[in-house]
Amino acid sequence: MTKINIGLIGYGTVGSGVVKFLSNRKSFIKNKFNTEFTIRTLCDLKLPKKNTRGLGRTRLTKKVQDVLDDPKIDIVIELIGGLHPAKEIVVKALNQGKHVITANKALIANSGKELFRMAKKQNCHLYFESSVGAGTPIIKTITEGIVGNKFNSIYGIINGTCNFILSEMTQRNYSVAQALTEAQKKGFAESNPTLDINGMDSVHKLAILVYLTFGKFIDVNDIYREGITHISHDDIEHATSLGLSIKLLAIAKKEDKNIEVRVHPTLISKNHPLASINSIYNAVYMNTDPLGSVLLSGEGAGQMAAASGVISDLINFASRGNNSALPCNRYSEASGLKIKKIDQIKTKFYIRFMVTDKPGILSVITGILGKHGIGINSVTQKAHNPTSTVPVIMLTDYTSEKMLRLALNKIHKLPVVKSKPVAIRMEKLW
Ligand code: HSE
Repeated sequence: MTKINIGLIGYGTVGSGVVKFLSNRKSFIKNKFNTEFTIRTLCDLKLPKKNTRGLGRTRLTKKVQDVLDDPKIDIVIELIGGLHPAKEIVVKALNQGKHVITANKALIANSGKELFRMAKKQNCHLYFESSVGAGTPIIKTITEGIVGNKFNSIYGIINGTCNFILSEMTQRNYSVAQALTEAQKKGFAESNPTLDINGMDSVHKLAILVYLTFGKFIDVNDIYREGITHISHDDIEHATSLGLSIKLLAIAKKEDKNIEVRVHPTLISKNHPLASINSIYNAVYMNTDPLGSVLLSGEGAGQMAAASGVISDLINFASRGNNSALPCNRYSEASGLKIKKIDQIKTKFYIRFMVTDKPGILSVITGILGKHGIGINSVTQKAHNPTSTVPVIMLTDYTSEKMLRLALNKIHKLPVVKSKPVAIRMEKLW
């Protein structure tokens, strides 16, 4: 029987889920894997008043050093989230020769390069399955299942809270605020939900995926980001009537040495498999060579979903033994890759103008778009009312962001255009 002692740091939603999971599956794990996991020490600033179920003989402490200095602890599970002091804790753990599991996307996205190097030097394992997609095995699929493939593109729905909000807005007419309150009640959202809805959580996860697929650590600040707060019911309704579905997509594409990396609300055909990924489900749709398209989906947020990823890391650690750390901790970094600026990227756009309902207005707008080289694929006026403003929806052909922005600034200044035009990128996925 292999016996593994754990030092658990962080007893929030995910930490308590890990305790629950290990306690509920104790005999299953023992019998199936011939392994016994014991949470030897639990460290948190807010400790439970007494040992709860699953923490029977666990030592409770507020001092992280009690975990790091204990030679009997084989592996540290860091579940406090955020960059600091999580980074300092993980660095100290690796320096003490302890293996580490973390679910911390901000940590791996910002400091993965340094931590992987350190893990390699110390001959330690550093696992992070739950950092992207919670328990849905996106990281293991990329780093093990299809590790020999070349990756051409990734389209990810990798924030459960945003996907939940957009789904509730579409299906139940909820506002962003109403749906966010629901997500918080259900424990999907971050303690600071701004990071979910402003797209930063997806940026962190995309940075991790870019490293694992294209082999390059990129600065999270180089990833273009737009959140979902400006998405309105009106646009969801208009898009739905045009056969489109809205998702917060994390997109990475590689062509030769150029990569595109961006996170923004995106309209996709409602017939694409990603359009049917709703609620807190996450999904990644990857184009790989030679395997082709791969779609992986599952619950991407929530207590037990995240705990599931941590437990899979634990069991992988126990079965791998001390000598063969994850291959991705040992990748050589790709060189010469350049990130395209958002201005250089060409996409199609959905645009909504709120205009006075008078003859000739459409020709003025399309004239300005035409002068900027922007082709129109379809135009729909959603209502007729000569006494008020009406929405006009245009779907453009491929255009650069730069030209679109210049054209929209001009159009916004027309007296007949009554509010700032709304532009949402569209993506054809393959
Ligand atoms: N807050 C995250 C989400 C879950 O909503 O997807 C953990 O990564």
